[in-house]
Amino acid sequence: MKTLLAIASSPRRNGNSETLLKEFCRAAEDAGWKVDLVRINDMKFRACQACDACAKDGRCILQDDMQDIYPKLTESDALVIASPVTFGSLNAQLKMFIDRFQCWWHAKYTLEKPFVTEEANRQGFFICVGALKRKRYCENALEIIRVFFHNINHQLGGSLFFRGYDEKGAILEDPEALADAYRAGKDFIDKVESL
Ligand SMILES: Cc1cc2nc3c(=O)[nH]c(=O)nc-3n(C[C@H](O)[C@H](O)[C@H](O)COP(=O)(O)O)c2cc1C
Repeated sequence: MKTLLAIASSPRRNGNSETLLKEFCRAAEDAGWKVDLVRINDMKFRACQACDACAKDGRCILQDDMQDIYPKLTESDALVIASPVTFGSLNAQLKMFIDRFQCWWHAKYTLEKPFVTEEANRQGFFICVGALKRKRYCENALEIIRVFFHNINHQLGGSLFFRGYDEKGAILEDPEALADAYRAGKDFIDKVESL
């Protein structure tokens, strides 16, 4: 069975981005995939300390919950990340998570032994939700995701922006948005399976 690793970054359990993420994942489950949902906000981990110990072997020496994530990502078949916009970008929890992949940067560029190879053609998807209609906030967040995906050798298989949703549960009042997330999940899985 193939596995979709789903990363929720919001501190709001069942908030707007997590609800959309779950709709996306429901499509994967309907296609027979296993979904491994990780909530970054429930994890205990430190920010990258820039110690460069990972330059030796591509492994992070900080012994915290990030150690569970590296093998999950190596072993999964596709990735989806959902983030709320905070201060015009992706949220702090997700940025801290991304920075902890500095060890994968060293694995790829210094050691030339990436944990996921480019040839694997691994696909990733990004879901972004903001309160304001301004598109550039989600675009800003997506730009960081592009850099992250490049570092971890994932292709950007697609993205969805939802703008104009603020209160927790606001997205539930918009069945079309939920349907868009489900459809995007279905199209993404179809694409991954056709590669
Ligand atoms: C600290 C913080 C900063 C925020 N900054 C922005 C922002 O710059 N632009 C925006 O459109 N929404 C901003 N928002 C609103 C959230 O993006 C919005 O409430 C979103 O629906 C939250 O998604 P969630 O329910 O998945 O957490 C901010 C929310 C918080 C808590």
